[in-house]
Amino acid sequence: MAMAFSKLIALVLGVFFVAVPQCTTAKGRTCTLYPLGPGMDDTDQVEAAIAACGHNGTTIFEEGSYNITRKMMWDLDTARVDLKGVLSFQPDIQHWLNSSNTFQVVFIQSQSSWFVVTGKDFIIDAHNTGGIDGNGQPWWNFFTTVPRRDGNGRPISFTLWRVTRGVIRHFTILSPPFWANTVAESTDVVYNGMLVNATNTDPAFAGQNIVWNTDGIDTYRSDKITMLNWDVTCGDDCIAIKGNSSNIIARNFVCRGGEGIAFGSVGQYANMTDFVSNVLVENVKVLRLSPEQQPNMEHGIYFKTWDGAVNGMPPTGGGGGPGLVKGAVFRNVQIDSVETAVQIVQNFGGGGAVPSKVKLEDMRFENIYGTTNTSTIVKLECGTTLGCSNLSFVNFDVNGPDGNDTIVCDNTWDVVGLGASCN
Ligand SMILES: *[C@@H]1O[C@H](CO)[C@@H](O)[C@H](O)[C@H]1NC(C)=O
Ligand SMILES: *[C@@H]1O[C@H](CO)[C@@H](O)[C@H](O)[C@H]1NC(C)=O
Ligand SMILES: *[C@@H]1O[C@H](CO)[C@@H](O)[C@H](O)[C@H]1NC(C)=O
Ligand SMILES: *[C@@H]1O[C@H](CO)[C@@H](O)[C@H](O)[C@H]1NC(C)=O
Ligand SMILES: *[C@@H]1O[C@H](CO)[C@@H](O)[C@H](O)[C@H]1NC(C)=O
Ligand SMILES: *[C@@H]1O[C@H](CO)[C@@H](O)[C@H](O)[C@H]1NC(C)=O
Ligand SMILES: *[C@@H]1O[C@H](CO)[C@@H](O)[C@H](O)[C@H]1NC(C)=O
Ligand SMILES: *[C@@H]1O[C@H](CO)[C@@H](O)[C@H](O)[C@H]1NC(C)=O
Ligand SMILES: *[C@@H]1O[C@H](CO)[C@@H](O)[C@H](O)[C@H]1NC(C)=O
Repeated sequence: MAMAFSKLIALVLGVFFVAVPQCTTAKGRTCTLYPLGPGMDDTDQVEAAIAACGHNGTTIFEEGSYNITRKMMWDLDTARVDLKGVLSFQPDIQHWLNSSNTFQVVFIQSQSSWFVVTGKDFIIDAHNTGGIDGNGQPWWNFFTTVPRRDGNGRPISFTLWRVTRGVIRHFTILSPPFWANTVAESTDVVYNGMLVNATNTDPAFAGQNIVWNTDGIDTYRSDKITMLNWDVTCGDDCIAIKGNSSNIIARNFVCRGGEGIAFGSVGQYANMTDFVSNVLVENVKVLRLSPEQQPNMEHGIYFKTWDGAVNGMPPTGGGGGPGLVKGAVFRNVQIDSVETAVQIVQNFGGGGAVPSKVKLEDMRFENIYGTTNTSTIVKLECGTTLGCSNLSFVNFDVNGPDGNDTIVCDNTWDVVGLGASCN
């Protein structure tokens, strides 16, 4: 990329002029932005800068808050963005809930996105000062009285879609109304340094989890995704590995509150097969927060695949989809007072009368240690037909609250390290 970039600068030097008022054109192409200030709308100048400098150029957002009022898609190609400032998405709930005001690029559960980055060969570096403010508090308050449903238009804060060779660095997402990050239909993406914090600060809701669905990241239909150095505070999945995710690495994570590390939902669409393969999760801490801040801390590691019967239609219902979750390694995972250290729910959304069509196999759990707050430290509830096989637990040192630890294994075989009852 460096070579292509200097070649380009040589090509365009002196012959290129960018006719965008908000942009300063430098050598090659550099657009530099400053926030317009309180009460002003920054969306136009942001779109103009990316249009001018998003191909073969550099866009620099100086520090401060940029007011974003409309959906935005950045198409980046051989580009660098220094996002030192914060894209602050105006909390106009009724505007964003209208699906014509967001993008529907994330197929699963018909999710909506207010900000999509697409393209190839780019770096977005937020320098630990920039990123996204989702202004989620009014959203969370609103959805205390309105049911939360998948596909109801709550926007994903930061979506990478159809990206090839993208790097996201030193980025912060504050108060996401819904999922903080999603990477979909992408290949070769590295996230290095991501702070996500979904924390209710309204005293009226202290002690309740009103920040459901504020997942740290969902991966979907993507290959070679690497996530390094993440710190996620949320009320739901810290990571959710969804269908057709392969070659995923998550290393150096702190997950504070919520549901822990999740795989799923897999098998939600009866007409499509979901494959998940080759996932490495290592050096992770799953930590319980004070109950005032976030009462929920459910799993260390969790797998959720749908029942074999069709129970309603996506986005909210589903099931009956075939699939295979194969090859996951979890290494060096510290858990702190989670409800269950490792849980598999293979027949989610149904009674298991038609067992799940998603098979789970070849998992390794190594150096998993810490505490649970219930005595069921491991709960592997697999379906009768396909079940779960070849799971090995090595240096598994998890302790429940009362020295009375229970392990549930339904329809599992070739399970090493948990005792005879699991075979
Ligand atoms: C954002 O821009 C809108 C106008 O489009 C304005 O009404 C609103 O006050 C601005 N918000 C901030 C925080 O400046
Ligand atoms: C970017 O550079 C590539 C290769 O050097 C060139 O083909 C393309 O036209 C350039 N794009 C723009 C928008 O300048
Ligand atoms: C959604 O927005 C579109 C475009 O602005 C508008 O035509 C439509 O009436 C809106 N729908 C609702 C339900 O407000
Ligand atoms: C998350 O935000 C809450 C509320 O502002 C704050 O108390 C907490 O320290 C933050 N956590 C992290 C890890 O930054
Ligand atoms: C599968 O069904 C969903 C509706 O549930 C539909 O949107 C999608 O296009 C279908 N996919 C295929 C491959 O037919
Ligand atoms: C997953 O990939 C397979 C092909 O490898 C495809 O048949 C299937 O429809 C994909 N599933 C989804 C949910 O995209
Ligand atoms: C364990 O933690 C959960 C919240 O994650 C809570 O609902 C439950 O009451 C706790 N159980 C015990 C026995 O403390
Ligand atoms: C069991 O799973 C491990 C990965 O955890 C894999 O290396 C091994 O080949 C699998 N064994 C069999 C018999 O498939
Ligand atoms: C241990 O577990 C058994 C069966 O679940 C239960 O009856 C018993 O009360 C438990 N003992 C303690 C100390 O919790």
